[in-house]
Amino acid sequence: MNVLVTGGAGYIGSHTALSLLEAGHDVVVLDNLCNASQESLRRVEEIADRSLTFIEGDIRDRACLDQLFNEHSIHAVIHFAGLKAVGESVEQPLAYYATNVAGTVTLCQAMQQAGVFRLVFSSSATVYGPDAPVPYQENMPRGRTANPYGTSKSMVEQILEDVVRSDQSWSVALLRYFNPIGAHPSGRLGEDPQGIPNNLMPYIAQVAVGRRESLTIFGNDYATTDGTCIRDYLHVMDLAEGHVSALDRLTLSGAHIYNLGTGQGLSVIQMVEAFERISECSIPYQFAPRREGDLDAFWADSNKADAELGWQARRGLDDMMADTWRWQRQNPNGYRTNINTTSEGTS
Ligand code: NAD
Ligand code: WQD
Repeated sequence: MNVLVTGGAGYIGSHTALSLLEAGHDVVVLDNLCNASQESLRRVEEIADRSLTFIEGDIRDRACLDQLFNEHSIHAVIHFAGLKAVGESVEQPLAYYATNVAGTVTLCQAMQQAGVFRLVFSSSATVYGPDAPVPYQENMPRGRTANPYGTSKSMVEQILEDVVRSDQSWSVALLRYFNPIGAHPSGRLGEDPQGIPNNLMPYIAQVAVGRRESLTIFGNDYATTDGTCIRDYLHVMDLAEGHVSALDRLTLSGAHIYNLGTGQGLSVIQMVEAFERISECSIPYQFAPRREGDLDAFWADSNKADAELGWQARRGLDDMMADTWRWQRQNPNGYRTNINTTSEGTS
């Protein structure tokens, strides 16, 4: 298949572009590089020993999309492009709705005009909201969302369900990711957050490599065994392969929801200890008050993805830690060769 990957230069997109090339698909990436470097795609081509097509452009730019669909015979779209920083979404809700919601609508309009009806969308476990019982199952209703980022994912799910209901030509996979971490085992591809990382694993890895002094753990008074939050962390290569599996499912019309997680919850302290064990680095940390909006514990029931997509997370915690550490050690400044650590902050 010839697959358009929006946001394909980013963290999950680049790993998925590699999995697609390795599975024999052709790949066209559309990315505006607002949170990524084209270097990731250069490395994808190097690892796969195959080339892809890169177009620098924006999903909100209808003319750019129309030209892309005219010039390339696209069979399916995997749509990663979007903004994902929860705190930033509270400060800049319009930017989040413009990119994540309006951008997706523009993409779907361009797809419809081009006669392309197969879409895989990056959704999130956050759509279950705070009241869903664990483990989360796909047939549970979408819940309250705690921030505009989460609301944007929930809104897009609703929009896509309405779109498929209006026209049986559409086949859409809504993939609800849990907490993707890790990197390609080569150490050549990985997560490269700009500025101070919001997420746990990149923060731990930057402490290990000396870019941050210590980790702040948000809350040690949750109702969990060690008082820290529990999440379902999955390897980004497993997640990437989940997208390749979902593409095969896009022969069936309708909107198909799948959780992509391991089914196992781990606490923040367990994650720190596992990283320390694998990397043989000490990660100093201190506790701070809870972070607003954090839930105490959730993990996936991924049996539906297993039954219908033949997908399971195959890589374990030690692989996630070893691959994160290899990427960070080999690329202390991510895809950039030079960095001014004082200007990016050192907290
Ligand atoms: P990322 O920021 O690394 O990748 C997103 C990519 O989209 C970047 O390369 C960015 O430059 C590009 N982009 C942003 N706005 C664009 C626009 N208007 N036009 C074109 N390109 C644009 O993030 P990621 O972690 O790889 O996440 C990919 C998708 O998965 C996002 O939609 C995110 O919300 C979703 N998701 C991520 C996680 C996670 O924990 N990383 C969890 C659940 C869902
Ligand atoms: C994990 C745990 C933190 C950083 C977020 C989004 C979600 C999805 C995935 C994109 C929590 C704790 C973290 C730190 C810490 N994103 N933590 N110190 O919050 O589960 O999910 O990313 O779609 O929508 O909300 O992931 O990695 O930020 O946090 O103690 O410096 O680590 O409190 O318990 P989260 P995370």
